Amino acid sequence: MDITSIALLRWYLEAGVDEVVGETPVNHYSSSKKSENITCKIKDVFNELKNNEKERDSIRSITSTASALAAQCTTLDSLRAAVTSFEGCPLRTNAANTVFADGTPTAPVMVIGEAPGVEEDRQGLPFVGPSGHLLDQMLESIGLERRRNCYITNVVPWRPPGNRKPTPVEVSIVLPFLERHITLAAPQILLLVGGLAASAVLPGHEGIMRVRGKWFEYSVGLARPIPAIATFHPAYLMRAPAQKRLAWHDMLALEIRLTQIS
Ligand code: URA
Repeated sequence: MDITSIALLRWYLEAGVDEVVGETPVNHYSSSKKSENITCKIKDVFNELKNNEKERDSIRSITSTASALAAQCTTLDSLRAAVTSFEGCPLRTNAANTVFADGTPTAPVMVIGEAPGVEEDRQGLPFVGPSGHLLDQMLESIGLERRRNCYITNVVPWRPPGNRKPTPVEVSIVLPFLERHITLAAPQILLLVGGLAASAVLPGHEGIMRVRGKWFEYSVGLARPIPAIATFHPAYLMRAPAQKRLAWHDMLALEIRLTQIS
């Protein structure tokens, strides 16, 4: 079925037409197989569109529940509790732990990764597996440490099965919690590691190759915008060590900015 026909069916659906009934009676005992097939196909498309609408409505409702819960949190502890007990994201079902954050909540730098891996899921802490060790080294190279001046979290607090990328729907469901997390932690700088963190926090700026190393302003729900910079994900750097040179540039840019604001 072509795009115009689908758009027309969607328009009918929005107008409340959700049954395929012809104007003239049809003797289905004598109708040809061809017209039966066409009616079936149209019904299938209708049903698919209806299901898509229903799915979209249910995602919208889960996301607005997450927004309402997040908005009620006035401390990081209450936000942690709200995220831990939130049941609207299917990823939670298979995860061993909710991975909320690690490091110093009052730190000037807040690092945002993608989602927990196996080790993070086991320990309930972000970036404690192999890519976490590289991240720690990158941070230490410019004088940042979790225990002193760095706070670390992820876009998604539950491990996606098989370490797959979180889907856009999963990200949209948990985004209100991340946005509240940033507001409550109120860092002076955001470091976004990897393409998923960059696109979640800076929508409209897709592609880590294009956004890395540049300064952006994050301002969702904030009176004063927070400078944000993206760099490569350490897991990617382990696969493509030649890119460490560019990541080093990004870390230096962050170091310079930090000296300017302190
Ligand atoms: N990768 C991430 O993005 N976050 C983690 O916590 C671990 C691996």
